Amino acid sequence: MDEENSYSCQLAAVSSQGSGVREYSTGAIFAGLAALTNHAFTIDNLNRIGYYLIVMKNAISPPPVRMPPQAFMNGEVHDWYRTVWGYSDHLVGTLLDEFASAARARVLDPFCGSGTTLVECMKRGIDSAGIDANPVSCFAAAVKTNWSLNSDRLLALLECIGENYHNGLLDETYASDPTYRYLDSTGMLSRGWISPEPLKKAISVKHSIRMLKTSVAYRRTFTLALLDTVLRTAANIKFGPELYCSKQKTDADVFGEFCKKIRKIAHDLDLATHVKHGKSVVLEGDSRGFVGLRNQLGSPKFSLVICSPPYPAEHDYTRNSRLELAFLEEVKDRESLRLIKKRMVRSHTKGIYTEDDDSGLVTGHEALARIVRRIDRAAASKTYGFARLYSRVTMEYFGGMKRHLASIRPFLRDGAILAYVVGDQSSYLQVPINTAHILSALAVEVGYEQVEIRHWRNRNSRSASKVIVENILILRKGA
Ligand SMILES: C[S@@+](CC[C@H](N)C(=O)[O-])C[C@H]1O[C@@H](n2cnc3c(N)ncnc32)[C@H](O)[C@@H]1O
Repeated sequence: MDEENSYSCQLAAVSSQGSGVREYSTGAIFAGLAALTNHAFTIDNLNRIGYYLIVMKNAISPPPVRMPPQAFMNGEVHDWYRTVWGYSDHLVGTLLDEFASAARARVLDPFCGSGTTLVECMKRGIDSAGIDANPVSCFAAAVKTNWSLNSDRLLALLECIGENYHNGLLDETYASDPTYRYLDSTGMLSRGWISPEPLKKAISVKHSIRMLKTSVAYRRTFTLALLDTVLRTAANIKFGPELYCSKQKTDADVFGEFCKKIRKIAHDLDLATHVKHGKSVVLEGDSRGFVGLRNQLGSPKFSLVICSPPYPAEHDYTRNSRLELAFLEEVKDRESLRLIKKRMVRSHTKGIYTEDDDSGLVTGHEALARIVRRIDRAAASKTYGFARLYSRVTMEYFGGMKRHLASIRPFLRDGAILAYVVGDQSSYLQVPINTAHILSALAVEVGYEQVEIRHWRNRNSRSASKVIVENILILRKGA
């Protein structure tokens, strides 16, 4: 038996079954011993051996309790790359337990971000699809839902990356590198988003990944680990929740942290590849226009929607992922950035365009009209130009969400449940916006029934110095 197959057998012995009951076999003990004797005591292998020891301990005294699926890999995979606006995997797990019990459940997240819903569905063996307008989100969600990679191969390729990286391949290509050029030309480098030395190291890792002779799937997984390392280690940025530049680092251990991330991914893949998981598809697109995605969405129709859409809260998703967009070479200039912004539900004043007309869909809505009048009255005394756009963004936001709710409807089964996790807002001159209630009224106008507005949690908003209420709006598609 070759090494790869031997690992597979060892891990199969401890995989979680569809019933959610952990199963162990004495085979795991022998497999663990084989691992101990077959592998040198490198740091990588020590990690593995630690894992086998846990397996062996459990095999000798299996716990008698039934484990819910979430407990099998609590938090695993999600942290390969997380966004600041990502929601709780536990919340998604709870909603899936409540609403996805029917056979042939198929779940949709039309604002999937980095794939929290999709990963939770995979863990439970449920098929799912995710859509997002931001290429970074789609990239992350797609990598996090590809569990077909072999962890040994990943670690072997990491060594090749190390060789490429330490051969110092970069000097003559650095100045022409598209990531460097974008960060330099936009002033992000001079404004200190990332310092020159860590940037050079990160770009060097990027080139080392490119040089690998392997499939796209492995390269993409390495690239996701690099994006995470750029955010957490190389860059000088923090989120509070909006992005700001923090203390400047002159240097950072970019390659070391990148390796740690890959080892974590390899560890999770060892667990994940042996779960009987669901299938997932990720599409880049605008969830206000589902018809354009018809051919890619596949069948059957969706029985459940779980998502956290944008809020009207001056939150610019492209700014918060600008470094990743630059590293993926998805933005090269203002126009490429603008195209991404235009696909998004309007939720901030820097992403609103003269030709926007989603507001036309909600002009007759009385509660919304009252909110907009209050914002306009408060804005009248402000001297900065953006204040005049606050009411416009609010209207465009709700118009865009109404368009989304109408366009998704034909893709849902009769009786399908939709769960939208949304926060109330008062970002615009402290005027309260009860997001879930307004969305619910708009949903009813396009043919849904409101099941419930369920309080999820209260959150402190530093910017508005207030408690923000977050709700789950639960809707049903009637026949
Ligand atoms: C609150 S985040 C979702 C986070 C996600 N639940 C997670 O855990 O990572 C909202 C997402 O909506 C996406 N978005 C905004 N407008 C969109 C649109 N028109 N179509 C699809 N996605 C959109 C943003 O790019 C962002 O990733």
